[in-house]
Amino acid sequence: MKSSVIVTGASSGIGAEIAREFSKNGHFVFLFGRDQKKLQLVQKTCLNETEIFAFDLKDLKDFKTTILNLLENRPPLEILVNNAGIYKQSRFEMTSTEIWNEQFQVNLLAPVELTQLIWPLFIKNKKGSVVNISSTLGIKPAPGTSAYSAIKAALNNLTITLAQEGGAHNIRVNAVCPGIVDTPIHTFHNLKPDEKSKITTELATLQMLPRIGQPSDIAQATYFLGSDQSAWTTGAILSVDGGIGQK
Ligand SMILES: NC(=O)c1ccc[n+]([C@@H]2O[C@H](COP(=O)([O-])OP(=O)(O)OC[C@H]3O[C@@H](n4cnc5c(N)ncnc54)[C@H](OP(=O)(O)O)[C@@H]3O)[C@@H](O)[C@H]2O)c1
Repeated sequence: MKSSVIVTGASSGIGAEIAREFSKNGHFVFLFGRDQKKLQLVQKTCLNETEIFAFDLKDLKDFKTTILNLLENRPPLEILVNNAGIYKQSRFEMTSTEIWNEQFQVNLLAPVELTQLIWPLFIKNKKGSVVNISSTLGIKPAPGTSAYSAIKAALNNLTITLAQEGGAHNIRVNAVCPGIVDTPIHTFHNLKPDEKSKITTELATLQMLPRIGQPSDIAQATYFLGSDQSAWTTGAILSVDGGIGQK
């Protein structure tokens, strides 16, 4: 068995596919998420050994010891994928402090706290790889996404700072910036096929490539950046977005 990997938000969409990708490639995968039942469904689709840990990332401070205990007697942890995230669309004047706070906590503070928890292990092992799942909106913001776009931009900057600090310890830190990917984060995800196709075809006209993304598009890029395949890549902010906004 290769090294261990933590994937947050492994219960759904992109995170579930990332977990399957690392598992398929022989890694031990820790599936982090909130919903035990959804995590169990994903676990059944993984090809190698996994372990589930269900908790709310907003309460991460209460689970730090448990997480460190989980890692014992498992293959060494070499990869952390900060994937869990929430997306709330609203015009700026309607975006309350609560909305800002929640997106800040889940999309930025949780990756900060979890990476801070794991960082000393990576330093001790002289090896580590962090992949932050950011967003194309962190580079190319759009109306109605003030909080989300600003916070994902912060995640991109954090990625570069950590890459700068981690390099001397053989810790690599990279980000993947997905475009529009078909997951439950979007309301169109569960529409009837004809209604969904109408919306996704329209959205795809914003891109150079005429289809929206699938979780596997992001999982493959994440596997590349997380694994030794990209051993000489750090501080990269990789857009995987069909060329959105540049047509
Ligand atoms: N889909 C896209 O178009 C798109 C585009 C750009 C970036 N992204 C980013 O990709 C990442 C994954 O999104 P997705 O599209 O796969 O969305 P998704 O299907 O809604 O999955 C989100 C995941 O995050 C977890 N999560 C949310 N809040 C959490 C919390 N407080 N504590 C612990 N886990 C929590 C969810 O757990 P539960 O199942 O328990 O809710 C779920 O596993 C996010 O960071 C998102 O910002 C997505």
